[in-house]
Amino acid sequence: MSDERYDFVVASNRLPVDRVIDDDGTPNWRPSPGGLVTALEPVMREADGAWVGWAGQPDLELEPFDWDGIRIVPIKLTDDDLENFYEGFSNDTLWPLYHDVIAPPGYHRVWWDSYVSVNQRFANAIAAVSAPGATVWVQDYQLQLVPRMLRQARPDLTIGFFNHIPFPAYGIFSQLPWRTQIIEGLLGADVIGFQRVADAGNFSRAVRRLLGYSTKNPVIEVPARGGVPKRGVIARAFPISIDVASFEHLARSPAVQARAEQIRHDLGNPKTIMLGVDRLDYTKGIGHRLKAFGELLEDGRLKVEDITLVQVASPSRERVETYRQLRDEIELTVGRINGDYGTISHQAVSYLHHGFPREEMAALYLAADVMLVTALRDGMNLVAKEYVAARFDVDGVLVLSEFTGASDELRSALLINPHDIDGLKDAILRAVDMARPERRKRMKALRRRVRENDVNHWSQSFLRALAESRRDAGRGADDTLDDLEWTVERAPRS
Ligand code: G6P
Repeated sequence: MSDERYDFVVASNRLPVDRVIDDDGTPNWRPSPGGLVTALEPVMREADGAWVGWAGQPDLELEPFDWDGIRIVPIKLTDDDLENFYEGFSNDTLWPLYHDVIAPPGYHRVWWDSYVSVNQRFANAIAAVSAPGATVWVQDYQLQLVPRMLRQARPDLTIGFFNHIPFPAYGIFSQLPWRTQIIEGLLGADVIGFQRVADAGNFSRAVRRLLGYSTKNPVIEVPARGGVPKRGVIARAFPISIDVASFEHLARSPAVQARAEQIRHDLGNPKTIMLGVDRLDYTKGIGHRLKAFGELLEDGRLKVEDITLVQVASPSRERVETYRQLRDEIELTVGRINGDYGTISHQAVSYLHHGFPREEMAALYLAADVMLVTALRDGMNLVAKEYVAARFDVDGVLVLSEFTGASDELRSALLINPHDIDGLKDAILRAVDMARPERRKRMKALRRRVRENDVNHWSQSFLRALAESRRDAGRGADDTLDDLEWTVERAPRS
């Protein structure tokens, strides 16, 4: 293991690259799925920092290496870790709990024990690669104990944490048998970022209820304990975004525009193309969307000759039982709708159970007259922002669930409650029938919002808050953070 140290370190469960084996048997690296990577990768390249995380396969012992200007520090997860830490506690306890118990969370002590031990492994690895006085940015719900573990090992570090998923109301959070440990774990950070104002509020309330600390928005006062002086922890919203300019650049490319035409043609040039793009996850409300669409066809308010729904459902967490069941349910429903309403020449739903490269996504967004985002609960939903960024033609209608973080900003979308199937049906019809001037007006306003807060703005404001808290804590200025002009590359990478 090399003993290089870095002034800026990011940690997330998944590395920005997954290790894959090519057809000829050689191992290779490919950008990994998930919005997080898209959001942080450009910042990392600029900062010349290190990224600590898991390579996406069990039992891989890998040396740190450089990838496209980023130092990659792989963490090994064993088969047991995958079962208990990743599929268990992260994705079968925290994920459903934090998404308002849409699916029932499992509470198992072996899962918790594994969560503690993997978090400790991450904390140790981060401590080992962080230079004295470095800034560390820990990402997401899989690593909530890391801030405290790291502070204990390395009080010289400035530590940020960002929660990419919702933080639930206390009535729900309090179900968690290890609720106090999680809160204390997070409070090891100097700045804790959330997607929505409501999430930060839920967290502060949990701190007051469980630990009795006083909070004065956005500061939480952590009293002196065990020789550590009292500290102020900032907990507030920093809504995440995407690399807007590079997405638009991609959509404007002649190849992507030609591909969008081709997609329309291949679908039989229907009057309307609707699009859904999600990880195949029960939080995304794919079933609600299909129900509304199926009923509209049944009622005769939409005709299969006129409209096609393209549903991209990228495979996710396929060894977790709830996800397997969901796949069966969705595929049964798609089959029924197509069987009941399709004709030889017109398919109602074009269902694609795989991920696509960014170019193909941009072409799909351009081809789609109506974008359906019907999540039952979603931290942000970057797909909504990608759709808006891609529509340089200032056209297309976004139907957006009010249960997404994105709905706080994208007020000019057609906002819907996905549980209200009649309301959803009406919104779909309104989107399909919307006249060009209203489409244009709404999309213009959406594009203004998305441009104002791109991923560059998100990371800058978080890191500025972190630099301020570092000064307040008397740890001095941070040259890395202070000197950097954070600018995201404008052109897409080849
Ligand atoms: C969400 C989470 C990320 C996660 C991604 C993909 O966006 O917030 O932390 O990486 O889903 O999920 P996976 O379990 O495949 O990493």
